[in-house]
Amino acid sequence: MAAAVQPVERRIEKSAQAFRTISEVATELDVPQHVLRFWESKFSQVRPLKRGGGRRYYRPEDIDLLRRIYEIASMGPTSMNTQPARFVFLTTPEAKARLLPALSAGNLDKTKGAPVTVIVATDTRFFQHMPQIWHKPGARENFEGNPAMATGTAVRNGTLGGAYFMIAARAVGLDCGPMSGFDIPKVNAEFFPDGRWQTNFLINVGYGDDTLLFDRNPRLAFEQATQIL
Ligand SMILES: Cc1cc2nc3c(=O)[nH]c(=O)nc-3n(C[C@H](O)[C@H](O)[C@H](O)COP(=O)(O)O)c2cc1C
Repeated sequence: MAAAVQPVERRIEKSAQAFRTISEVATELDVPQHVLRFWESKFSQVRPLKRGGGRRYYRPEDIDLLRRIYEIASMGPTSMNTQPARFVFLTTPEAKARLLPALSAGNLDKTKGAPVTVIVATDTRFFQHMPQIWHKPGARENFEGNPAMATGTAVRNGTLGGAYFMIAARAVGLDCGPMSGFDIPKVNAEFFPDGRWQTNFLINVGYGDDTLLFDRNPRLAFEQATQIL
């Protein structure tokens, strides 16, 4: 979706933990919207995410939802259970401001408007966790002694991890706007100065704005994309 994150709410009913607009929260709590705005000014815990045009997205369980997405995504298989994908959630304007200078022009507005932007990164030293996550000894040493195998494993399985994350986010009713239009070295320098994690791609997570979106493009048919031998 080149224009913005897709409006999944028109296809999938919102999950119990999904972000809600102020009118939805007002209806659920049976209080007027102006009372909610008053609460926001008085209680720092009530912090809606504001999107373009000042539209609010409440986040009572937003971190729980990100955790749930991660937990679903982490069940996706990776070779030798290596799990090299890492996720950095940019949830505040300040955190997002650190990313904006690296974005291509076409990706700026949709990123500013998204409730959360995720940096999908790859842990180049993923193998340090092998004693915890693999049932046979010696895996860490094998990767340490074979940098080509470690790199290939990190790249392939780190990308799988990002893909599992997108499918999990869409499965719980959020949408994802993935992006590769940005300057990877700039993001690495800003967020991962020690070089251990390396940026792979970005994902805007939230609900798309119907007024900014084009319809989902067609997928290749089964006959075009497969062979049965
Ligand atoms: C790795 C990756 C990089 C992408 N980069 C961009 C991007 O830089 N800007 C953009 O607007 N869309 C980007 N997209 C979005 C795709 O164009 C979009 O996901 C695709 O057309 C499928 O549509 P859907 O997301 O509605 O299912 C990217 C998608 C992926 C998976």
